[in-house]
Amino acid sequence: MLENITISPKGGLSGSINIPGDKSISHRSVMFAALASTPVVIKNFLYAEDCLSTVSCMQKLGAKIEKDEENNLHVLGQGLYGLKEPEDILDAGNSGTTLRLLSGILIGQSFFSVMTGDASLRNRPMGRVVTPLTMMGGKFAGRQGTRYIPISIVKSEKEKIHGIEYTMPMASAQVKSAILLATLFASSSSTITEPYVSRDHTELMLETFGVKVARQGTSVSINPVAQLHAPGEINVPGDISSAAFWLVGATIIPDSYLTLTNVGINPTRTGILDVLKEMGANISIENQRFSGAELVADLVVKSAKLKGTTIEGAIIPRLIDEIPILSVAALFADGKTIIRDAEELRVKETDRLKAVASELGKMGAIMTETDDGLIIDGPQKLQFANCDSYHDHRIAMALAIAGAASLGVNIHKHDCANISYPNFFATLDSIRK
Ligand code: S3P
Repeated sequence: MLENITISPKGGLSGSINIPGDKSISHRSVMFAALASTPVVIKNFLYAEDCLSTVSCMQKLGAKIEKDEENNLHVLGQGLYGLKEPEDILDAGNSGTTLRLLSGILIGQSFFSVMTGDASLRNRPMGRVVTPLTMMGGKFAGRQGTRYIPISIVKSEKEKIHGIEYTMPMASAQVKSAILLATLFASSSSTITEPYVSRDHTELMLETFGVKVARQGTSVSINPVAQLHAPGEINVPGDISSAAFWLVGATIIPDSYLTLTNVGINPTRTGILDVLKEMGANISIENQRFSGAELVADLVVKSAKLKGTTIEGAIIPRLIDEIPILSVAALFADGKTIIRDAEELRVKETDRLKAVASELGKMGAIMTETDDGLIIDGPQKLQFANCDSYHDHRIAMALAIAGAASLGVNIHKHDCANISYPNFFATLDSIRK
């Protein structure tokens, strides 16, 4: 595998891209199916490193999981209480979603388990899930007093796990989902309140698996259940967080016209569409339809002149993973873009505020990094530079679009794009005129 890639300047982006499966939904589809007792066929599953970490953990916990010739993933679980003690450490790789959601499942099990992950994940905060899960009766031992993985989860005694009423300090679908999943195994119900609503794929999938979910404002409540009722099939929509690179790329590169098919447009994920529209982008939403409980559409995007905007507050969780690529858009927009309330970016796969400021800075971008965001005055002219992905998939892909829209870029450790978008660079090559 090459250590780096050079993106050279070329013309606009054109053609049609079938967007690969949603990472968040792919994780959840395997975990939920592994907790059910009838076979589930998952279509358009994202075969990227993060989701494969979930597959391997669920296999170690006893689920039967196989891919067929048509790339469908077949999962057969042994019921809600059918997981078995893993013989080895569960390795979540680079995947925060695998680690946090699985923690919720594991506190409900009558066996011991240990979880770890790669160097990035070993530095990401675990306290946010350990605190509420401990309040529910879960027992953890981990590095630096359970602040970091490796972390072990002590065998839970029957009826010792109970629901909680919990107000989360931050909007986080991973934390919310960990508590919801733990509640399935609990002796009483849980109500979780977030400062702002984060992605609701867990809530939607719980309903698909027959669990009643009550939602009011930023709160969600569920009761424990005896079993999950699996649908025969789950069709994973394309990931809007992957589509985001093309939405911005086709907007800022002149003479572009792209159709992105089968994109999930769940309203808890479409902050990027709202912001780009506000900035002046030319994006139309076509063929809206449901794929199971999830809303999907085709998106048509043409080059457009952008203006700066302010991104803050309730919209942040709706575009949390899109801030690196939105920062690239801001560099090509007229006027000031202010991003604030985005301090969660500091605890993603890397400190994304720092990575964006430092690597786009190498390309000549001038931006102010604040505690919780970025201030970017545009438009700016970028130059060719050698940049580092920080081994963060979304930084690698954002740099690629910045380079494609300017004088090119060399990206060191670009192959981390495989974490969420294995064909990203080949696709970029194929749509450039
Ligand atoms: C995710 C939730 C978000 C997001 C991550 C995927 C999920 O993390 O950044 O890429 O699938 O639940 P937080 O819940 O920590 O904000």
